[in-house]
Amino acid sequence: MTIQSIRGMPDILPEQAGAWLYLEKAVARLFASYGLTQIRTPIVEETRLFARAVGDVTDIVEKEMYSFEDRSGESLTLRPELTAGVVRAAIEHGLLHNQTQRLWYQGPAFRYERPQKGRYRQFHQIGVECFGFPDAAMDAELIELTDALWSELGIREHVSLQLNTIGSPEARARYREALVTYLTAHFELLDADSQSRLQRNPLRILDSKDQGTQEVLEGAPSLESYLTDDDRAHFGRLTAHLDAAGVSYVLNPRLVRGLDYYGRTVFEWVTDELGAQGTICGGGRYDGLVAHLGGKPTPGVGFALGVERVVLLMQTLAVIPDTVTSQADVYLMAQVPVAESAIRSLARKLREACPELRVMTHIGEGSLKSQLKKADKCGARVGLIVGESELENGTVVFKPLRGGDQEILSQDDTLRRLQRG
Ligand code: HAM
Repeated sequence: MTIQSIRGMPDILPEQAGAWLYLEKAVARLFASYGLTQIRTPIVEETRLFARAVGDVTDIVEKEMYSFEDRSGESLTLRPELTAGVVRAAIEHGLLHNQTQRLWYQGPAFRYERPQKGRYRQFHQIGVECFGFPDAAMDAELIELTDALWSELGIREHVSLQLNTIGSPEARARYREALVTYLTAHFELLDADSQSRLQRNPLRILDSKDQGTQEVLEGAPSLESYLTDDDRAHFGRLTAHLDAAGVSYVLNPRLVRGLDYYGRTVFEWVTDELGAQGTICGGGRYDGLVAHLGGKPTPGVGFALGVERVVLLMQTLAVIPDTVTSQADVYLMAQVPVAESAIRSLARKLREACPELRVMTHIGEGSLKSQLKKADKCGARVGLIVGESELENGTVVFKPLRGGDQEILSQDDTLRRLQRG
């Protein structure tokens, strides 16, 4: 029996990895242009970090964590998300003392969910966390940043922004009481999941997809009417900034998100193109989390996108440039074995002169015909061939592989031609 990968933990094969790198490059460039710096935290943390940060009675902590005891009996967990670890690290290393932080990260996360298209047990997030900014301008800046990313990736027309404010903890506590009273009176009409959530995490019932529960919710008190004046003003500033920036949004009073640390702003970017797992990115404000984890009270706001889902969406919409899926721009071939060292030294010159150019040399034997086949297969635009006479004259056969006539050029002209693109 051969050994297989773990269910829900797919390999990212070479044909996929180009798209991943393309996304990661776009992110690294864009995030740097917003003044973000990167942080990398461990994949494993103490279990109680997630219980405290994400919340004891959330689905993630109750049902989805990969927790285990290490050899010394300590309970550890593979991170189900990255915000908790980033906050832990920021407190631990004094990153929040009299300074603000604008941080980003990327890496795997683990949730024991039922695998399906767009939902995995090991998946990857790219995210941002900003600390020390109570102003809604930061919420707006992060949303604008994601908007810019979708535009750059060519998927902006196929995603929409869902936006809500869930108010301060005081407002939520008062609302929670009213909601529980109302739903208790309609207990029999709720689905089983919502019934079990009623005492533990009633706000999540607002997210229920069950038809009967949805009908009960029609008549439920709204969170909106429990917001404080400050909550309203904060949200008003956010929407004013978004309006000014031309970022459109859909107000969704039912959007509450599945992690306990949020307060005020919550948002999700969703698409219709991916079936059931259409949320490609989610985030919000969490002004209480740093203090809740033992740090000095410090406002926080952030988001994370699901790399698999964004890549899937780019593939579905066929917006990934061909150069991303091809292996090389130029393929060098020796028509006779004595020309092999010449093509190797030419390849090296090309790589030094044009660092962005992807240069592949033919390795091993093969007729010119079979070498040209390989050149075509790797997606190269140009073939460079050195035969006996080129070797003698220090020239190269410059052969466009996607249409056009071949020419004989000097090595220097070949370089110049490729530098021009
Ligand atoms: P989240 O909504 O749980 O938020 O996850 C963020 C994104 O990760 C989702 O929108 C989705 O695209 C992706 N994702 C989640 N679970 C899976 C899965 N099983 N398979 C594939 N993709 C998945 C958070 O994790 C928060 N930490 C976001 C945040 C950062 N809020 C503030 N700062």
